[in-house]
Amino acid sequence: MRHEVVWMAVTETSQQSPSATTVELQDVRRTYHLGEPVHALDGVSISLPAGSFTAVMGPSGSGKSTLMNMVGCLDTPDEGDVTVAGQDVTVLSGNERAKLRGTELGFIFQQFNLMPRLTAAENVTMPLVFHNDLDDGRRQRAETLLERVGLGDRLDHTPPELSGGQRQRVAIARALVNEPSLVLADEPTGNLDTDTGAEIMELFEQLHEAGRTILMVTHERHIAEHADRIIHLVDGQIEEIEQVGGER
Ligand SMILES: Nc1ncnc2c1ncn2[C@@H]1O[C@H](COP(=O)(O)OP(=O)(O)OP(=O)(O)O)[C@@H](O)[C@H]1O
Ligand SMILES: [Mg+2]
Repeated sequence: MRHEVVWMAVTETSQQSPSATTVELQDVRRTYHLGEPVHALDGVSISLPAGSFTAVMGPSGSGKSTLMNMVGCLDTPDEGDVTVAGQDVTVLSGNERAKLRGTELGFIFQQFNLMPRLTAAENVTMPLVFHNDLDDGRRQRAETLLERVGLGDRLDHTPPELSGGQRQRVAIARALVNEPSLVLADEPTGNLDTDTGAEIMELFEQLHEAGRTILMVTHERHIAEHADRIIHLVDGQIEEIEQVGGER
């Protein structure tokens, strides 16, 4: 699956760049040609200041995941510019984009996307698979991260032995293992009940407070309201950028 390729593609030691990670999209267009052309992104311009927390809402098919793929350097635009962490993504090779993902970005998905036969600790350190220098420190890093998400007593459980909320906590710990400056989440609470979703959002708020830049897709208004602002997408275009109070 695609996202597993993302994690396997980590090849370089994480070097935390100064928190310049802003994302800049300028007039981005992405058209799919399967039969009738679909303008999944039809002239989208946004910028994500370092440390900002942005939610994306919109009907099914409005281009939310396509937008996440652009920001996540998994896709490149047909037209327009995408800058992530100071780098012009459109001119990078596939390997260079993979390196950028591995050092600057953390991904969280609706389906958690954990490896079912690996333990929580092993899942968390998956993105470090090529970081040979970290062989000794790996377990320690997993422990620290899993403790931080409240799973210090579940290090050696596999995903089938964990609840949905616990699985998402493991996925969040995994997303943080490379100390990314930008965290991308596509419906992180979509498979969770309301209370568990609220607990996961508390973790997002902590990330926000720790200065991470966050971009999160959600269908749920009350989840989106945890962000500083909500981008409303309709038919591949930004209909409105709404400032919200932010429940911090
Ligand atoms: N790989 C692809 N090939 C062809 N068309 C695609 C592809 N990916 C997305 N599309 C089309 O682009 C449009 C936007 O899709 P996208 O997945 O970004 O929507 P979304 O807002 O994430 O929807 P949802 O809320 O259902 O996840 C849709 O019409 C979809 O059918
Ligand atoms: Mg989607």
